Amino acid sequence: MIVAQELHKTFKRLGVSRNKPLSQQRVTAVKSVSFTAMDGCITGLLGPNGAGKSTTLRMLATLIEPESGDATIDGHNVVTEVLQVRNHLGFMPHNAGIYPRLTTRENIHYYARLCGLPGKQAQQRTGELIEQLDMLKFADRRANGFSQGQKTKVALARALVHRPQTLMLDEPTNGLDVMATRGLREIIRQLAAQGHCVLFSSHIMQEVAALCDHIAIISDGTVAMQDTLKGILQRTSQSDLEDAFVEATQSLAAGGEE
Ligand SMILES: Nc1ncnc2c1ncn2[C@@H]1O[C@H](COP(=O)(O)OP(=O)(O)OP(=O)(O)O)[C@@H](O)[C@H]1O
Ligand SMILES: [Mg+2]
Repeated sequence: MIVAQELHKTFKRLGVSRNKPLSQQRVTAVKSVSFTAMDGCITGLLGPNGAGKSTTLRMLATLIEPESGDATIDGHNVVTEVLQVRNHLGFMPHNAGIYPRLTTRENIHYYARLCGLPGKQAQQRTGELIEQLDMLKFADRRANGFSQGQKTKVALARALVHRPQTLMLDEPTNGLDVMATRGLREIIRQLAAQGHCVLFSSHIMQEVAALCDHIAIISDGTVAMQDTLKGILQRTSQSDLEDAFVEATQSLAAGGEE
């Protein structure tokens, strides 16, 4: 389970003089993000480009520290209990970030060892994931030159290698074809059905509407609304998610909250 409470993060704006006011020296990536993602559910973080999705996920994944606010993964604090959080969490970043000189098998196995799996178990788990994610054809090829779909699969395998309770995926279907997208959705559904907590970010309305039990709409660094699809449609008096999204974000901009 993921609980985020008023997460806030700014970054230094490069090339701005120190004489300028502090507010102009920094970019606010995440103003105030609060939401909950439950076990056994698929939660979608839905928002446009630049809304703060990746920054939020990176804070939850312990890759960067929030400036203020709080978050826990399965009850462990993302700032003070980094190791526990990493044990409970699998994270697939936006750009797969796999090692190009290693093969699929080596990439996964290396990560398994980093996660503390003993040699034989690491080997076994790697083989299992290669089969499950249908990667046999490119299991022993170096990742350099892999297609987007192949890279995504390797990154997903890496995120799953230590059987984490909670899985976070940053725009996982980016660059995937129809069949690969369907395959990934099936995996996400299976994980949630097994009781895992799955959170993914997207800007694609249909994808979120089709897959998610729970949706958090993020805009301009703030969660404007969170609910089931039905709840969001009811609260905005709309019949499709796109219109509801516009309504929720406009009412946030006008000063309304949830
Ligand atoms: N390291 C950084 N340095 C400076 N600004 C940053 C940094 N990371 C993010 N930002 C800024 O913070 C804002 C939010 O970025 P973020 O990557 O979280 O958005 P996003 O919702 O993931 O967008 P996208 O859909 O394009 O991936 C953007 O304005 C971005 O330029
Ligand atoms: Mg992003």
